Amino acid sequence: MGMTMIKIFDTTLRDGEQSPGVNLNQLEKLEIARQLERLRVDRIEAGFPASSKGDFEAVKAIAQTIKNSSVIGLSRAVQSDIDAAWEALRVAEEPCLHLFLATSPIHMKYKLKMTPEQVIETSVNMVKYAKKKFPFIEWSAEDASRSDLDFLARIIEKVIGAGANVINLPDTVGYTTPEEYGKMFRYIREHVPNIDQVALSCHCHDDLGMAVANSLAAIENGVTQVEGTINGIGERAGNAALEEVVIALKIRSDFYPYETNLKLDELKRTSDLVAKLTGMVVQPNKAVIGRNAYAHESGIHQDGVLKNAQTYEIITPELVGVHSNNLVLGKHSGRHAFKEKVVELGFTLSEEKLNQAFGQFKQLTDHKKEVTDEDLFTILMEIQTNA
Ligand code: KIV
Ligand code: ZN
Repeated sequence: MGMTMIKIFDTTLRDGEQSPGVNLNQLEKLEIARQLERLRVDRIEAGFPASSKGDFEAVKAIAQTIKNSSVIGLSRAVQSDIDAAWEALRVAEEPCLHLFLATSPIHMKYKLKMTPEQVIETSVNMVKYAKKKFPFIEWSAEDASRSDLDFLARIIEKVIGAGANVINLPDTVGYTTPEEYGKMFRYIREHVPNIDQVALSCHCHDDLGMAVANSLAAIENGVTQVEGTINGIGERAGNAALEEVVIALKIRSDFYPYETNLKLDELKRTSDLVAKLTGMVVQPNKAVIGRNAYAHESGIHQDGVLKNAQTYEIITPELVGVHSNNLVLGKHSGRHAFKEKVVELGFTLSEEKLNQAFGQFKQLTDHKKEVTDEDLFTILMEIQTNA
């Protein structure tokens, strides 16, 4: 079976920057955008130009600089936002606009104070207005996963008629489940007559910890663009972590016949850069790029990995740009791993000295959870220099 190409829409610089406590300056945003281009994401959401002067300038600078990924800016469904986005993005290779309006009953009634018919009319008018300038428009039904499906189908048909190129159906509050989210896309594909004129996109938040699973379910139901952020940063519990989505597709390509354009061995570098510049530390056990994702502490696991890495590693660290197999020595570690580490540190010990060193190492693990290379170095130097 042929592989279907899935486009990757990175919103680290927009939704990711909406993480509490994160505030990137223009230079930092440019640095991240350049790295995202090296990672070969298809679209970079550079910001929300109408939200502040700083964001406007950053989006403009990114639109001027980035040439191999398309650059997109966010806009509410109001003319002044669209105008600001155009001024920031007109210099881009292909100026792209991301227009959104909420479609769920709770958002329409309490936040927008608009009737469903007004939401349809505004969306159609703003897509038509934007289309006079922008060659490419993505329209998002904010809070789509809590919207009425018939209403969604009706508004989608109209905005496609008005000129939208991509329809994005976000799980704005991270409420949906994989089965339900997949069903929503299936329903839309079956009930919107002009749906084949556009691409479908998913955008998931992680409030219930299901953003990545929901994104994969969307792909299985006809979505060809996935939105998310590096390290899963974003509003509240964050967005779908892109590194997890793309590696799941890659590692389980037997199950998922999909591919992406990403240069996967740039993932770790991208993750490190985003963590450094946003100040949002990646949890050690984070899937795919966490410090412990390729670390093995128990003796049984270490022994297995040394004999054949695939015994306990389903992802080769090199695939994502992690360059060494990280054997962490602690109280559960066995002789085999200890011996490997001794060699790695440049020591050649007789069996007798190796046994002595192993004994001292085991004593140390009674007091220290993780024995560092420096600790080992001290032990090994002492044993090596004692007659
Ligand atoms: O989560 C969301 O609904 C959004 C929209 C602006 C697309 O971020
Ligand atoms: Zn979002």
